[in-house]
Formats: sequence, structure tokens, C-alpha cells
Amino acid sequence: MAYSGPFTAGDRVQLTDAKRRHFTITLEEGKSFFTHKGEIKHDDIIGKDEGIVVKSSGAGEYLIFRHLLVDHVLSMPRGAAVIYPKDAAQILVEGDIFPGATVLEAGAGSGAMSMWLLRAVGEHGKLISYEIREDHLEYARDNVADYMGGHPDNWDLRLGDLNEASREEIGQVDRVLLDMLAPWEMLETVKDVLLPGGVFLTYVATVPQLMKVMEGIRETKAFTEPKAWESLVREWKVEGLATRPEHRMNAHTAFLISARRLTDGVVAPRPQRRARR
Ligand SMILES: C[S@@+](CC[C@H](N)C(=O)[O-])C[C@H]1O[C@@H](n2cnc3c(N)ncnc32)[C@H](O)[C@@H]1O
Repeated sequence: MAYSGPFTAGDRVQLTDAKRRHFTITLEEGKSFFTHKGEIKHDDIIGKDEGIVVKSSGAGEYLIFRHLLVDHVLSMPRGAAVIYPKDAAQILVEGDIFPGATVLEAGAGSGAMSMWLLRAVGEHGKLISYEIREDHLEYARDNVADYMGGHPDNWDLRLGDLNEASREEIGQVDRVLLDMLAPWEMLETVKDVLLPGGVFLTYVATVPQLMKVMEGIRETKAFTEPKAWESLVREWKVEGLATRPEHRMNAHTAFLISARRLTDGVVAPRPQRRARR
């Protein structure tokens, strides 16, 4: 699958009609896609540049682009809730996911975050993903293969409980991302495998989870003081005098927590707070 250039067979493309409805198809020579406004021949798209308008046999007009990763993540089949794109962006930046990094992730869920991580670490990096449920692992494997055109060589997807994985099995890693119900149960494993200076990120949906994981990180005495935050993204409607924020937004997805691994035996200076008057 190509990510740019003229359309080729095998590309996953998105057709958008005048009512802004999206339809996704995979291009195949000789095939047709049938809309309620008639037929669109795949051969009328293959070989053309992106951003064209194609007419169906019933005079419907469809704008055609390749499926972006963000489109794929929001429309792909899923077994588990995915990390929202706005939060994936925070993870890549705040987690300092760099080309060539070795990243440990659990659980793989539907594979959404795996794809963002694989892109960020690049072909010289490595992603190890644990998933405890076989049905979820299959979603992750299929969704990633679907978008990336096969199973990436640098993706080590493992069926199993991260908590039962040893340091020998995992090796040492630069970054850890946990997206699961009880990340505080994994802290010994994270401590064992994360290199000094490595970034540990976790993503939790509720306040009790946030409190448990923050307290758990502090108790290990192996990390810097954890930082917690959430990201809020509000779209705007921009149309003359009607310009204003959109009425609806995904107000809450989850909280993010990050901390860095200290060298063993080092005690970080206590954060100083100003005395209350
Ligand atoms: C919310 S989903 C992850 C979604 C994923 N980050 C994505 O963007 O598609 C949480 C996943 O963690 C898995 N999980 C829970 N505990 C686990 C453990 N101890 N080891 C490995 N996977 C675990 C669950 O089965 C579930 O699929």
C-alpha cells in the first residue's frame, strides 16, 4: 500500500459525497463500488492523483483521497476502545517516541496505538506489544496488517499477561506505554525493563485509576514525581458571523500520566511546595 503518489491497486481510499458521508474501499482492478447513486469503477480511480472528484453512473459526485491513519483508527473494527487520536498525539510527544526507540506497550487492544508507535519508531526501532486476550490480539494484528500492508518486521506482538513476562523475555526498553484497567499491577515489570532515563506513560479513564497509579509510581521510588494531565480538543465552526466553538466535543477520553525512570538507588529531591499562608 502506498501512502502518496497516484492511486494504485491495493490502496485504501475514502470517498466523500456531497453530504460529507464517507465510504471506504480498497482499490482492485476491474472492480466496482455501488453507491445509492450508481456505480463507480475502481479503474476510474487507479492511476489518478489524490484529491479528485469521480462521478458515479447516477451522477453522484465523490471526492477521493487515501485513507489517513486517523481515518483508519476511527473506522476500523475494534474489540477494545482505542486511544483517541488527540491522546495518541500527546503520547508520541510527551513520551518522546523517537526513531530507533524500543517501546513496550500493553495492551495492544485494537492496535490503534500500535500503529502510531510503529510509525514513530520507524524501521530501525522496535515495538513489543502484549495483549492478554486472544480475540483482541486478532483485532490488533488484522487492523495493523490492513493499514500497513502486512505484519511489520519490527513489531513483536505477544499473547500474554505483561505481569507474567520476565525481564529476560522483554529485554530493556526506552519507553513503556500502558493502556489497561490496572496499570499499577505492572509497576515492578515496568521498573525492571525500563532503562534509566526512559519514559513511562500510562493512560487511564477514571479518577480512582489515576490516583492508584500515581500513588503506585511514588511508592516504587524508582521514578521521578509523576505528572498527570488530560487533553481537551474543541473544534470550531468558522462561517462568517456564525463563527463559534462547535456545540459537541469528546470532553473526556482519559488521563495521561508520565514519569521517568531513575537510576537504581537514586533518591530524587522532594518536590518543594510553597508554604500556605
Ligand atoms: C483499552 S484496550 C487498549 C487499546 C489500545 N491501546 C488501542 O489503542 O487500540 C486495553 C487492553 O489491555 C488488555 N490487557 C489488560 N490487562 C492486560 C495485561 N495484564 N497484559 C496484557 N494485556 C492486558 C485488554 O485485554 C485490552 O485489550
